[in-house]
Amino acid sequence: MNRVAVLIAAGSGMGANAAKVLSKAGYKIAIFSSSEKSKKLAKELRGIGYIGSNLNKDDLKNFINIIYKKWSRIDVLVNSAGHGPKGEILKITDEEWFISLETYFLNVVRAIRYVTPIMKKQKSGSIINISTYATFEPEKSFPTSSVMRAGLSSFTKIYSDEYAKYNIRINNILPGFINSLKPKKKFIKRVPLKRSGKVGEISAVVKLLASEDGAYITGQNIRVDGGITRSVWKVYNMKKQIKFLNKIFDKPITCLTAYSASIAKLLDGNIDIILVGDSLGSTLYGMKNTRNVTINMMKFHGKVVTENVKKSIVVIDMPYKSYINKVTALKNARKLINFTKANVLKLEVQKKTIPIIKYLSKKKLNVIAHIGVTPQSFIDFKKIKVVGKNDQEKKQLLELAVNAELAGAQAILLECVTEKVSKEITASVSIPTIGIGSSKYCDGQVLVFDDLININDQKKLPRFVKTYINFGKETKKVLKKFSKEVKSKKFPNKKFTYQ
Ligand code: KIV
Repeated sequence: MNRVAVLIAAGSGMGANAAKVLSKAGYKIAIFSSSEKSKKLAKELRGIGYIGSNLNKDDLKNFINIIYKKWSRIDVLVNSAGHGPKGEILKITDEEWFISLETYFLNVVRAIRYVTPIMKKQKSGSIINISTYATFEPEKSFPTSSVMRAGLSSFTKIYSDEYAKYNIRINNILPGFINSLKPKKKFIKRVPLKRSGKVGEISAVVKLLASEDGAYITGQNIRVDGGITRSVWKVYNMKKQIKFLNKIFDKPITCLTAYSASIAKLLDGNIDIILVGDSLGSTLYGMKNTRNVTINMMKFHGKVVTENVKKSIVVIDMPYKSYINKVTALKNARKLINFTKANVLKLEVQKKTIPIIKYLSKKKLNVIAHIGVTPQSFIDFKKIKVVGKNDQEKKQLLELAVNAELAGAQAILLECVTEKVSKEITASVSIPTIGIGSSKYCDGQVLVFDDLININDQKKLPRFVKTYINFGKETKKVLKKFSKEVKSKKFPNKKFTYQ
């Protein structure tokens, strides 16, 4: 029994070459094209030639019926396409988009629709779509092809899931610049192999996918492009790129607080972002909350930190009531930035603060929006609890994050937000999320430095705080030792004394 291969839009180029290769491999060949070329080639290969338009469903249907009547089977369907409209993306008319839908997508869907019942009955079949390398990395020189072929890829995946049980396989070949057309020099320059592909190199993959050697390949997009495409993940697996200010982070961002020169020096270059947080109110000054922190306190601690930081990014908090309206916010923001030279401001954000974020961003100030638990809203920190547990909170937080990005925020800080909501927010915004008590799904993590080292040997810290060292406990031991040595006159001995 000779297997049957059907090739659409195959009067010339890659399709025609594939027909010759499959014929040589023993397939009976049926060729469809819009010109006499199909007839001519079919004659040469002793197959069926059909002149029609692949934009016309009746022509396609007729063609498939003729083949089935004559040979009672179809084993391989190879879909090529002509060339759709091109041009500047917004100048392409609705009519042209519809033509490209027909040219690159619907023609394939229709042909598949007609051969599927035959392949299903046979319990075997291989569908091969000759698509483009621009499927996953869109190319402005071929906008309609890029858009429609991205859709074809989704179609292919869903089809392969559905029809694999009938042993019908479907794959797309994504050719780069192939010598069936004469590629421009500027395109070839971009190809790592520094040459155009040969039509035979595409046909070799068609032959593999058609044959039993390719029996375990389905639902794939196979790039035959000399290395021109770069993405290593498929689009639907691609991770969000973490960009903050002018830096790109390939791993989650680290952030810790510092309020003094010594800690700033320690963190500089070891931690991506140093936050001069208004937590200094409670942490450093022993205040009950952060409401009494002033602009002047932030200015002086901010300056001492930035003067001791060369590599890391410095973020500074705007304290309570320093951004109650646009005018006050801009005045205080400028005071803080001009005096400290910090890179970014952080504001605790509610719905009413969004216009202030927008205003500061417009004035070219970099802003981080702090959402979730916003400590400035609390007089009693004991009343703080996790947010995002119910649908209303979830909706509010999502809206806040999205609106903060739209208003121009450079990042979102999430404090004590549930894992599920942090994950959703992180996926919904293109700016980085930096979490404190807000799960591993954020693009970065922040902690108060004093908590990280448990500076006061606190027995009860919030659940999200990991103390990497109990500095307080170790220090207490050292203090005892120091007292003992001084009291017993063991310290200072000769080693620590000038003669
Ligand atoms: O002020 C601060 O230290 C903060 C952290 C809790 C993120 O805002």
